[in-house]
Parts: sequence; C-alpha cells; structure tokens
Amino acid sequence: MKNKINIGVIGLGTIGSSLVKLLLERRKVFCDRTGIELNLSRVCDKDLGAKKKVKVAKDMFTRDAKIVINDPDIDIVVELVGGVHPAKEIIMSALSQGKHVVTANKLLLATEGYAIFKKAAQMHRQVFFEASVGGGIPIIRSIREGMVANTFSSIFGILNGTSNYILSKMSSEGVSFKSALNEAKQKGYAERDPSLDIKGLDSAHKIAILSLIAFGKIVTIEDVYVEGIENISPIDIQYSKELGYTIKLLAIAKRNGKELEVRVHPTLQPKGYLLSSVSGIYNAVFIDADLVGKQVFYGEGAGKLPTASAVLSDIVDIAYTIVNDNVSSEFIVPKRLEIKTVKKMDDVYTRFYVRFSAIDKPGVLAQIADHLGRYDISIASVVQKERSKAHIVPIVMLTHEAREKDMQNALKKIDSLPVIKKKSVLIRLES
Ligand code: HSE
Repeated sequence: MKNKINIGVIGLGTIGSSLVKLLLERRKVFCDRTGIELNLSRVCDKDLGAKKKVKVAKDMFTRDAKIVINDPDIDIVVELVGGVHPAKEIIMSALSQGKHVVTANKLLLATEGYAIFKKAAQMHRQVFFEASVGGGIPIIRSIREGMVANTFSSIFGILNGTSNYILSKMSSEGVSFKSALNEAKQKGYAERDPSLDIKGLDSAHKIAILSLIAFGKIVTIEDVYVEGIENISPIDIQYSKELGYTIKLLAIAKRNGKELEVRVHPTLQPKGYLLSSVSGIYNAVFIDADLVGKQVFYGEGAGKLPTASAVLSDIVDIAYTIVNDNVSSEFIVPKRLEIKTVKKMDDVYTRFYVRFSAIDKPGVLAQIADHLGRYDISIASVVQKERSKAHIVPIVMLTHEAREKDMQNALKKIDSLPVIKKKSVLIRLES
C-alpha cells in the first residue's frame, strides 16, 4: 500500500511559504497522526526571489509550473497563485496529468468552479478548497460532510476579514478607513488587490462557493448583489451605535421557495446579536438547516497560519483517499435541484437605515414621510439631530421591511426634493 504522498506547491506568497514551512517542520507529526508521509517534492514560483522565503533544496525549486504539473511522481498539486490566469490553466493541466488539486482560490472557483469540478470528475480526481472560505474555519467540510443530510434555508455571515477589521477599528478606535486598511495590508490579511476586499467582491466569491455546495445552485458573480464598505462613513457608524446597532459587511444566501437571495452589503446588526460582536479579522458563518437547526462557525478568517491549516486539512483528506485507493469520482456540485433561480435584488425585502441631509424647516419631515408612504415603506423610528450652522440636518430613519425597488424609487423622489441637500445614505438592516 502506498503511504508516501508527493506534493508540489505552486505559488510561494504568504500562504504558500507558510504551507511549505509547515510541511517541512511537521512532517513527523503528520506521519504520526495519519500514518502517511506527506512529502514535499517541488515548490514553484515565477519570481526567483520567492526562493529565499523557504528553506528547500536547490533542485526542489522551479520557476516553471509545468515542471511540477508534469512530474510523474507528484500526487497532489497545491495551487496558491491566486487570480484566474494562469491559475485556471495550472489546475486544468494538473487534472489532465492525473493530479489531485488543492486550492485556496475563491475568485477562480466562484467564476470557473463548474468547469474545474467537471474536469476533476472526468479525470476521477479531487479538487479540494477548504481554504477558499473562512480561513481556518472548516466550513466547506462541515457543509459537504457534516451536514450532508440537511436541506439548508440560509447561510450568512462575515466572510471578509479585512472589511471586518476595518469596520471594527473605525467603530471601536475611531481609526480612519485608510489607516485601518493599511494595517490589514501590513498584517497580510488583504488581497493583493485590496479593492476585492473593500468592494465586497471577496465576500461575493465566498458566498457563491457556499451557495454552490449548500444549495446546489451555480451562482455567478453577476447574480450576486454586491456593495462594499468603501462608502461607510464614521457618522453612520456613530448614528448606528446610538440606535443600538453595529455595521457589518454581511454575505447572505437565503432560500425563498424555489428562489435564492444572494447578496453582500453593509448591514446594521442589533448590538445583542452574535454577529455584531464578531470583531477584527474574525469571520462568523451562521447556518440554518432543517435537521441541525441553527449553527454558528467562528474563527480567524484570514492570515497565513489559519489558511495554511485549511490547505493542510485538504492535503491530508486527499492523501487518505489515495492511500486507501478510494478516490471518489463524485461531482462536487450536489444534485439538489430545488433552487431554480437567483432572486432579483429589486424584489428582496429588508429593513433599512436611511440618513437624509435636509434643510431644517417646517414640513420637511412630512415631505419625506409622504414619499416613503407612497411606496409602502413604513417608518420604524426617526432621529433628527440639532441643526448645524449650514442649516442642514441629518435625519436618520429606520424602516420596517420594505421591497428594495420601492425603497430605491422612493429615495430617487426624495433626493430630488429641493429641501434635500445631499444624496441620502442607505444601509440595509437585518434583525
Ligand atoms: N482577503 C481575505 C479576507 C483573505 O480579508 O478575508 C481570506 O480569504
């Protein structure tokens, strides 16, 4: 029986170099725990300088991914290059060469996942991706294996550590957006292109992956309504606090009959709720399913060690199936066809926080309320601050549940009133 598994790692960035270090340092530990020798055979990075990050034998390093992919002794190729190209070509060629693949590439899986899983099924090889969502939290394995007997009604949570770090710092320490983002970059949490984090796209990629494995629905990035945190201002954080809420970037996938709502946006969460106390780099995922009921997963969602831990769990999982000669040809997309379509954002119902910037004179509040009423939007509470010298007052309202399209239409009308002096700020609220 084969009990030595050869591994090739492509991409020696923050996660790749940590993974290599762990594979070398913990070789004996892994062998004691699993009975399998996890042997690092080759490491690759297109940048020669990356070689300095890892202490490997000279002939183990290459700048050419093909050398790893075409090495007949390698069993598992770990793709940690990131982005769509050449990561997709690396994975497809590795599968063609009969390798199993481990990847942390959420952008690639969210955009090309179906083609990759199909290819893996054709080749009877596995593509594992635990590190793509939730950093060190074993969320993918929990959904695919631990909760396989369930029908899911919703999965939502904080899936981007960088955005959560920024919002937490702005809220608790009054730190500016820019300096909080710089800290997240320095600590290695942010993507190479941090706009993916702050514009909500990274969360969108992750919720698309979770939707695929939990609901069996291929959700393209165009299907996901995405709004990031770049327009969240300290004043809205402050008013939300006064009203008893915390602003979090939530990724939400919610079943609605045969439709699935999939959205990412800043969201007010009541202070007593668990998600509102998830701070810093931590992620939290809530799951509601018919057999297990409500479950919460919480942990470090970014960073080299939690992510390398998730990659290693995939390596070990695949290694077990190889040594047991038990590689399944299962197609990762579950054959659950109950979800037909992704719901249009226009038809989604949520509560809202709205901040109007209005002239302080008689009848203004009545004009705003009149337009909201016409669109069937019911006000839950209103706070008006004292006027400033400029005679412009912030009026903050919380609404009851209303349809997105109605709210957008009402805002268009309200923002065109002569008494409104700036574009109104709209943030959704989930309670
Ligand atoms: N940039 C990501 C985050 C890394 O901040 O959550 C983990 O996927």
